[in-house]
Amino acid sequence: MGKELPPIIGTLFTEEQIRLRVQEMGVEIAQDYQDKDLVMVGILKGSFVFLADLSREVYKNGVNSTIDFMGIESYKGTESSRQPIITKDLSIDVSGKHVLIVEDIVDTGFSLDKVKRILEGRSVASFKICSLLSKPSAREVEVDISYTGFPIEKLWVEGYGLDTDQIGRANPDIVIRKT
Ligand code: IMP
Ligand code: MG
Repeated sequence: MGKELPPIIGTLFTEEQIRLRVQEMGVEIAQDYQDKDLVMVGILKGSFVFLADLSREVYKNGVNSTIDFMGIESYKGTESSRQPIITKDLSIDVSGKHVLIVEDIVDTGFSLDKVKRILEGRSVASFKICSLLSKPSAREVEVDISYTGFPIEKLWVEGYGLDTDQIGRANPDIVIRKT
């Protein structure tokens, strides 16, 4: 048995609320990328659920994107190390492509700052960030997020891909865990 986690203290967003917001985001993104070579890059592991839903909403609105992943790890439990490590690089060449990073949540900003620096060196046609959740008051490094699902307070959340020590990713709702 693993270490016991603090309790879940409530639901922040239900499956239905998330679904409606992801639909809206899909419409907006598809409008911005009509006739463009879009590569949606999910940041593992947390974005896998969001990317699956969002990419299909984008598709339904007329943009057939290419999908790839980058792996980055920065958290031990609920504390950022502030020194993210790339655990998996892209498997396709993104030069000349319109890259949209798809992230589950932006907290301190260190993870996406690192991803941005790496991709800046690869002559992409454009680079934008989409994040389902953002904690603006936790930011330590500035990141420019073009599409935000929901801004939230400095809470620890899990579900819809987000984990607490690898637990809870498959929960269809987003819940709050006590820290
Ligand atoms: P940042 O580098 O501090 O911006 O952290 C971003 C990453 O930390 C996200 O991709 C998540 O994997 C993780 N993270 C930050 N806050 C939370 C949270 O509340 N729940 C689960 N994971 C989180
Ligand atoms: Mg993540």
